[in-house]
This record gives sequence, structure tokens and C-alpha cells, in this order.
Amino acid sequence: MSEQPKILVTQKVPDPAYPLLEAIGEVEANPVEGNIWSYEELLRRGPGHDYIYCLLTDNIDARFLEACAAATPHLKMVANMAVGYNNIDVEAATRLGIAVSNTPGVLSDTTADLAFALLMATARRIPEAERYLRAGKFAGWGPLLFCGAEVHHSTLGLIGAGRIGKIMTRRASGFEMKVLYYDVHRMSPEEETAHNLTYMPMDDVLQQSDFISVHTPYMPSTHHLISTRELNLMKPTAILINTARGPIVDEKALAKALQAGTIAGAGLDVFENEPAVEPELLTMENVVLLPHIASASLKTRTLMATMASDNLVAHYHGQRPPNILNPEVL
Ligand code: DGY
Repeated sequence: MSEQPKILVTQKVPDPAYPLLEAIGEVEANPVEGNIWSYEELLRRGPGHDYIYCLLTDNIDARFLEACAAATPHLKMVANMAVGYNNIDVEAATRLGIAVSNTPGVLSDTTADLAFALLMATARRIPEAERYLRAGKFAGWGPLLFCGAEVHHSTLGLIGAGRIGKIMTRRASGFEMKVLYYDVHRMSPEEETAHNLTYMPMDDVLQQSDFISVHTPYMPSTHHLISTRELNLMKPTAILINTARGPIVDEKALAKALQAGTIAGAGLDVFENEPAVEPELLTMENVVLLPHIASASLKTRTLMATMASDNLVAHYHGQRPPNILNPEVL
């Protein structure tokens, strides 16, 4: 590798990430906060870099990776500043000898905090009630005004109980909730006891829960994991929370289910075709919609940003990046 590797940073990230990169290479960075490069722009800028520091908004597909692998210098690594890496074709990267890393762990608590906040906000109709008050409609206390669903002593069903799902269980314990889970990897009985979790097949979790919170990664096998059949299994009073990835839930089927009263509400931080949102959802009062902010505390985003830099810098120094996803390329 040349003395000074060329590093491309595709979006404005928290400041502490940059000096770590500047210490080893020549950094070309997108300087404008909130400016997301289009795929074409990425394709124009990416080739000719040794390293790409990217975000979940970047489509790092086979075509892009092949263009970067064919250029000089050859792309060596893609460091994603996110735990989810469904934006990257890891198989293609591996085939081309390009390392890929992500940022697990540091955002789990913050993401669970938001998932629980969304659950509370949807159950207790907080955004809807606030909109009502701001519109000048509050005419005094009313016995039926904004009656919502009870959270305490209810049943939470987790679809996916990895790092974030397990933390949700701890948040739920404060509300004395019963927590059921389904995961392709069932925990040992000791682990289930330690986390106070009851395993059930997914259909049973859907049928028995008051709240369903999705915490699986997105991959071909979880595409539309929650669709019409699954929504029909849920209680008519149930609320669906998704802070994982949009396409895990069939957004059109969800809109229909909410309209038909198949389920009572939904709290969504992620969408199938981000940043687009199914237009019908925007018109519904029983849905709380957030712009993919589950890990958005400055402390957590800074940890994620420096973690992505650390992975990249480790690779440059010939070390194993701590969060490498395809170690076989090393
Ligand atoms: C991730 O890291 O995958 C989240 O969706 C953004 O924090």
C-alpha cells in the first residue's frame, strides 16, 4: 500500500472520527451534514480509494465494489458506521478480497431506550395528544380523553433477542412486563432464566403479546417476516414496534392492518424504502413515525463513528479489525 492511503468518508460524521483517519491517510470527506450522496455520486467518487468509511444510506453493492476493486489503488476495506450492514454486499466484498466491518454493541442500550420510548409513545398516544394540545383543542380534563393502552403488567413479544432484544427485556422489567421471545437461535435454559425470557414459536409470540418489538437483522430470510398472515395473528389491541430495519415489516400490509383494525397501532423508526414512508401511514393517528433515530444520542453516535475509524485504522496497520465481518479476506 502507498504510504498515505486514500480514505473516503461518505457523510458528515461526529468530529472525533476524523483525526483517527487523518493520522494514517489522505481523507476526502463529504463535508455537508445531512447530505447523502446518490448512488451515481458514490460510483463517481469511490473508485481510487483504499478505504471507504460508509453509512447505512450508502448502497455498497457488487457493481460498486467491482468498480472500486478494478481501480488503482484497489479498495481494501469498507468500514460501515452502523451495526446493520444490509447496505453492503458482503459476499461480493469477500469475493473481491475487500474487508468489511460494522459497529456492534455501542448502540444497543441507546437503541433499546428509543424502542421502549416508541412503545410508550404509541401505547399512551403521546404524539397525538401533543398535536391536539398544540392545535388549541384542549378544553379541559376529560374522563375519556386520549385513553391509551396500559404498558405495565402487559406482555412484550420480542422478535429477535440478540443484544438489543435482551436490553429491551431489562427495560420491560421496570414495568413488570412478561417478556416472550422468538429467535432463530434459542438461548440456553440458563440464559433464558437470567434474562427472564420465555421462548415460544413466532406465531405464539404474535398471538399472546400486547406489544411486538422487532429486533432481528435484515437479510433475505427476514424480508417481510411480519406481513398479512403475521399481523392477522396479533391481538386487535396489539401494537407493533420496529426499530430494526424497515423491510422486515411489509409496510403496505401494515397500513392495511392498521386501517382495518387488525392491530391497534404501530411505532416505526425504520421504513421499507427509506426515506420514503408509505403515504397512508402518514395520515394515521395510531402510528408514531420517527426518522431512523434509535441510536441518535451524540455520545453513542460518537462511539459508533470512532469505532468505524478504529476498524479501518487497525486494517491499515495490518491488525485484525475488531469488528471484521469477513475475516477470511485478511
Ligand atoms: C444501525 O447501526 O444499524 C442503526 O440502524 C443506526 O444506528
